[in-house]
Amino acid sequence: MSPAGPGPQAEAVIDLDAYRANLSALAAVASDAALMAVVKADAYGHGLAPMVRAARDGGTDWIGVATPAEALAVRATGDTGPILCWLAAPDEDLAAAVAADVEVTASSVEQLEQIVAAGGRPRTQLKVDTGLARNGAFGADWSRLVESAAAHQGAGRLEITGVWSHFACADQPDHRANDEQEQVFVRAVDELQAAGIEPRWRHLANSPATLTRPSAHLDLVRVGVASYGIDPVATVDHGVPLTPVMTLRGRLAAVKRVPAGTGVSYGHTFTTDRATTLGLVPLGYAEGIPVTGSGQLSGGFAGDRIAQVGRVCMDQIMVDLGDRDARRGDVVTLFGPGQDGEPTANDWAAAAGTIGYEIVTRVGGRVVRTYRGAP
Ligand SMILES: Cc1ncc(COP(=O)(O)O)c(C=O)c1O
Repeated sequence: MSPAGPGPQAEAVIDLDAYRANLSALAAVASDAALMAVVKADAYGHGLAPMVRAARDGGTDWIGVATPAEALAVRATGDTGPILCWLAAPDEDLAAAVAADVEVTASSVEQLEQIVAAGGRPRTQLKVDTGLARNGAFGADWSRLVESAAAHQGAGRLEITGVWSHFACADQPDHRANDEQEQVFVRAVDELQAAGIEPRWRHLANSPATLTRPSAHLDLVRVGVASYGIDPVATVDHGVPLTPVMTLRGRLAAVKRVPAGTGVSYGHTFTTDRATTLGLVPLGYAEGIPVTGSGQLSGGFAGDRIAQVGRVCMDQIMVDLGDRDARRGDVVTLFGPGQDGEPTANDWAAAAGTIGYEIVTRVGGRVVRTYRGAP
């Protein structure tokens, strides 16, 4: 059987129904909290505008992005709902973001001044570093940030709407850092309240914490990877149904029969041990296929699992089709929901020594995105 069919030669099929269903399942597991759909980095490679629309249509309360530019890109889709961003450049003019009702996060007094400088009594959130050692005010800097925020709010120059932090080890539910971070967060919020600030939104949970730590749900959960159907705690039986949203596939650009002993791709890292049919799939590392997965990846073809062989090239990879009937134009599914022989993004991550987040986020280059499901 040859699953031939028309379509782009390299395609990421995005299932919007699956995305909405994942968001609903995540909202249900954190039903006392509001839900933020994290769509930074072009919605983890899924394409910003359709994911924002699907999330809002599904009733998502908040959209979360890293940079103010991403937040403005969300606004450019016509979105008018609550948005939070958390990664502004030191010298960035935040006036446009503030004017567009984007809530910007301050991790330091300097950033708070930058937000105030935008004018217009901006709604602002404060980030405390509870143990990730990434962004957020740490230790005595948190006290300084609280003091400054109280002064600015008292003078009517801004409104503090939220306080939040981010987990370091939530994908290891038993890691002691998780409890410690929650405790530091509680103390940080106490300090804020003691300074007279009562933020409406306290939030800490990413996808793994949403799935495994009800104590961290608080007022809002920020879900990224799980909403795209990539389970960040796949070994934990959390009972939340998640369906991979992206299916990456390519149409065979060439098919050839080769004898045993044929060296395949650069460096001949793979040699056929029998006569076989090789297929050329027109996606390579320019499309985000991980070179570290060379010879370890797999795909799905006509319901079967097939091996990717030899080194990943810039524009193409080779697959070993064995004695299957295959023709130019037939579709090879590189990863997807895993329901038709193909591996999942998490399977690819394991094979390439990376994480599922990176597998989907790096999909790009010449890949055409097509969307399925109700718009
Ligand atoms: C601040 C912040 N919150 C939430 C998320 C979403 O994390 P996840 O994809 O694990 O749900 C991210 C992504 O890394 C983030 O940077």
